[in-house]
Amino acid sequence: MKTRLNYVWGYALAVLFCACGNTNDTGKSADTNVKSQQGLNPDIERKVDSLLSLMTLEEKIGQMNQYTGFWEVTGPTPSEGNQALKYEHLKKGWVGSMLNVTGAKEVTALQKIAVEETRLGIPLIIGFDVVHGYKTVSPIPLAEAASWDLEAIQRSAEVAAKEAAASGINWTFAPMVDISRDARWGRVMEGAGEDPFLGSKIAIARVKGFQGDDLSANSTIAACAKHFAAYGFPESGKDYNTADLGTSTLYNVVLPPFKAANEAGARTFMNSFNELNGIPATGDAFLQRQILKGDWNFNGFVVSDWGSIGEMIAHGYAKDGKEAAKIAANAGSDMDMESHLYVEHLSQVVKDGDVKEAYIDDAARRILRLKYELGLFEDPYKYSNETNEANVVGSTEIQEAVLDMAKKSIVLLKNDKQLLPLKKEGLNIAIIGALANDKTSPLGNWRLGAKNGTAVSLLEGLQAYKGNTITYVQGPNFVENDIVFSRQLEFNISNKKGLQEAVSAAKNADVVLMALGEHAMQTGEGRSQANIEMDPLQQELLEAVHKANPNVVLVLSNGRPLAINWANENIPAILETWHLGTQSGNAIAQVLYGDYNPSGKLPMTFPRNVGQVPIYYNHKSSGRPNEPSPGEVFWSHYTDESNSPLYPFGYGLSYTSFEYSNLQVSNVENNSVKVSGTVTNTGAYSGKEVVQLYIHDLFASVTRPIKELKGFEMISIEPGTSQTVTFTLTEKELGFYDNQGNYIVEPGDFKVFVGGSSASGLESEFTIN
Ligand code: BGC
Repeated sequence: MKTRLNYVWGYALAVLFCACGNTNDTGKSADTNVKSQQGLNPDIERKVDSLLSLMTLEEKIGQMNQYTGFWEVTGPTPSEGNQALKYEHLKKGWVGSMLNVTGAKEVTALQKIAVEETRLGIPLIIGFDVVHGYKTVSPIPLAEAASWDLEAIQRSAEVAAKEAAASGINWTFAPMVDISRDARWGRVMEGAGEDPFLGSKIAIARVKGFQGDDLSANSTIAACAKHFAAYGFPESGKDYNTADLGTSTLYNVVLPPFKAANEAGARTFMNSFNELNGIPATGDAFLQRQILKGDWNFNGFVVSDWGSIGEMIAHGYAKDGKEAAKIAANAGSDMDMESHLYVEHLSQVVKDGDVKEAYIDDAARRILRLKYELGLFEDPYKYSNETNEANVVGSTEIQEAVLDMAKKSIVLLKNDKQLLPLKKEGLNIAIIGALANDKTSPLGNWRLGAKNGTAVSLLEGLQAYKGNTITYVQGPNFVENDIVFSRQLEFNISNKKGLQEAVSAAKNADVVLMALGEHAMQTGEGRSQANIEMDPLQQELLEAVHKANPNVVLVLSNGRPLAINWANENIPAILETWHLGTQSGNAIAQVLYGDYNPSGKLPMTFPRNVGQVPIYYNHKSSGRPNEPSPGEVFWSHYTDESNSPLYPFGYGLSYTSFEYSNLQVSNVENNSVKVSGTVTNTGAYSGKEVVQLYIHDLFASVTRPIKELKGFEMISIEPGTSQTVTFTLTEKELGFYDNQGNYIVEPGDFKVFVGGSSASGLESEFTIN
């Protein structure tokens, strides 16, 4: 018998087709919007209603219009062209929000126009991509996810919010909660990896970190769960590309982190550039009105992605700007980021009867509600106080939090012969590679608020330890231009000078640190790659140095899983350091010297070969999972590559070693199961281990993955001691979404695994009756 739980995602598959095929028929959703008013602050609701009653249609649509910063507000006012038009809109009260305006002085000047020069004096909400820090940068989100440390991740978002809020920002376009299984996709750096369970926990931590307990405090900002939905599943890993997904993957993999973000109280969502099953997400009423605002009772607002309303024309979904505005508004996109189509067309569209005014009221209400919640009506300048800004930005508190996060994000991939940690005295160390003294690349891709050159480089981090002799050779160089705003990438790697110098330095060293991988602008938006190996010049350098001196530690910086087979086979020690932010060099040095014992675990599978992608641990079995007999060809495999990954999801070493024993499983009442296991530190260092629990539902009405993460706990253990970890699995962990979006728990047999990665550990079983 199936157990049907309360959180049913409502509509049957028929509704999927009906809703997607006719985004203008959203009558049903209007009712669900009424439902979404539950649980709100009645005082704020009264204020919003009374303000709405004073507003003209154009002013309400104005709240739905968002522009990027278009002039230096403290300078002369724009008088020509598009800027003059935007300025005119601002003064008419036709702009509800602006993004990319930062700094207490600028924001104050801007708010002054909105508050003092418009008819109703409605303050603006100021948005910015505080994705991994603002001016003080924390590790890229994929790196943070590798910590599996929810407290540290929450703290990282909390200090980012504090620093950004001190600069006038009250809304971040983060967290990105897109699950992705494709290392080619440049934006994997911005998410939490491939797993919906870990991704959901991290989504919650980030939302809580940004928003805190009191959104109106001047140290918290509104979060934005993005990109709704399936942006992480572009065909061929190519950014913005088509997503075509079955309902099983949509409900069980893509949507859970968004649902979790909503339950954690995320006040905004951003829709996405991609189409999903033939409907651009921006124009998808099924996603936005039925699932998000309907079934999930989301009562914040949805912002479009940059220009995504207008892009529905290129998608072949809307014939012109007016139709695009109509489709997006009907589908539940509340705010237009930089398409300019709402402000241009929506009033006429409403007058033509093509969008109900009730939808405009609903969108404006959601936006105004957040402005009240942020306290902007009480004091529009509360986030933009120059004294507070000077005290908070770059403060010791924030530096310490990002350093802590950076250390926790590092993953030890290999450590043969215990090459690490390094001795603190008496060594000749050669440090080689273009990333060794790079003070910009560690800042990662989303460093809009930070100044280039402000990260502590690896070389600087090492120089803080005085006991060893350090020789630095840059070797062949990459060039990363100052491209953050122009978003142009110039990558010049035809320069081989430096290779010989590197080889000579290696010959004279006791140990060689090779700082290689990707610079920050090789990942991120618009930066998908068909090739995920190390580039040929760095590979040549690595091989040449290794030939001269085999005692090599590869310190890898990158924003995506890389296929580094040769390194894995030949280099004795490999440390995954991602792009770790402002404190990067200090964090890496502390790990290399053993002042911090690495504890990170991969949040995404590393393939051996790009041809294996998408490769992920929680895949299905297929009807032919095993080689029937040696040499047999008719089973699910490649004839030229193994099925196994290079490094599996959840994998990561420590300077100490852990042993798992004594797995116990006991059924408790009401379909809940207790699972416990003992972990012993069998090495010489105290260390932290992320104990992971996976299940496999052996037979189900919709086939289940061969393993699914359903619990994890980080423990600290002293050498020679043991700890027992107990997990309780309930219906929340034991069920799944069927193809109609109903959450069900089915009776049957399960396997359970407890270990230090998705590919190792103890195994047992239990039955749900
Ligand atoms: C990105 C969003 C981002 C927005 C504003 C878009 O190109 O896809 O994630 O928040 O720009 O910068």
